[in-house]
Amino acid sequence: EKGGYDHFMLKEIHEQPNAYRNTMLGRIDESGRKVVFPGLNLSDEKIRSINSIHVIACGTAYHAGLVGGAAIERLVRIPVSFDVASEYRYRSPLITPETLVIVVSQSGETADTLAALREAHANGAHVLAITNVVGSSIARDADDVIATLAGPEIAVASTKAYTSQLIAFYLFALYMAQARGTQTEEEVAHIVAAMQALPEQVESMLENSDAIKAYAEQISTHEHLFFIGRGLDYAVAQEGSLKLKEISYIHSEAYAAGELKHGTLALIEEGIPVIALATQESVLEKTVSNIKEVKARGADVMAITHEEHVAGLLKSVDQAFAIPKTLPLLTPALSVVPLQLLAYYASLARGNDVDKPRNLAKSVTVE
Ligand code: M6R
Repeated sequence: EKGGYDHFMLKEIHEQPNAYRNTMLGRIDESGRKVVFPGLNLSDEKIRSINSIHVIACGTAYHAGLVGGAAIERLVRIPVSFDVASEYRYRSPLITPETLVIVVSQSGETADTLAALREAHANGAHVLAITNVVGSSIARDADDVIATLAGPEIAVASTKAYTSQLIAFYLFALYMAQARGTQTEEEVAHIVAAMQALPEQVESMLENSDAIKAYAEQISTHEHLFFIGRGLDYAVAQEGSLKLKEISYIHSEAYAAGELKHGTLALIEEGIPVIALATQESVLEKTVSNIKEVKARGADVMAITHEEHVAGLLKSVDQAFAIPKTLPLLTPALSVVPLQLLAYYASLARGNDVDKPRNLAKSVTVE
């Protein structure tokens, strides 16, 4: 049942290339220049009337929402807000019929997310669900569903569902951009082509996981560590940190790299591991400054970056791990993979039950 892998989590990490392919299947027309969503109720006219988007989810699905919502904001230029589902109803959100609410849930059964969806509905919003289970409660209640075709996810730690959610979001952002004319056909084709290259890029990373495994063993003896990054790297840092906490029980925190000096820097001491995501070129120099801040306080820094920046970064970090190159917006679909493997191997090194971490359930049906 685990297909030759020791754990479901590792199997599911390795299923990602196909999950990406399946989630794109039938949603890109033959020319490769247009995204299509057969069966979506949302008309182009309705898409043009939307003036705000609320992205709501829990845990890892929320982290996918952070990346996905950023993609929509960048490509479609509509303001997007983000809520963890358990907070949404209680902040009296501004919901109108021009609000598009996007709920994200692997299981489609998360109680908080379902309650948020109902709140949005009661206030007249159009609700789109991105889910992995088409027969789920959330899918049934939503006005529209985009299925992530990741296949069943068994491990409590979500991996292929997260990355499939990213793919679904990227496609939907392009779809909205087409309807609103915010991206040209050329621009859409350019992004689509980069997306189609992702599965093979993930495969190449999975074939070269030894360095991450060794690093995981190195950090497995620590009790505290930090993930830092800016922009989309910060969103991925949050997912990497959750994954690590969930299955290795190592305490970690994800910080926007520029925010450290506003308090958290006080926690940096000799030898503490800091994982710096440094893939977003537009803020790379700033990230490097933040890396130097932690290095100066004795941190042991591992950077995740692109090959072309490894040599430069090695002047300021202790080790660097290179990931394949794609568009900055799509990079989370690659940069999260080493972090999944890191959590997996750290959990393994600590002798934990990787697939069934303590205190947690796969599907959280209580508020
Ligand atoms: O089924 P859902 O996507 O709604 O679940 C949301 C979270 O409970 C889930 O992502 C949780 O954070 C994972 N165990 C993280 O790996």
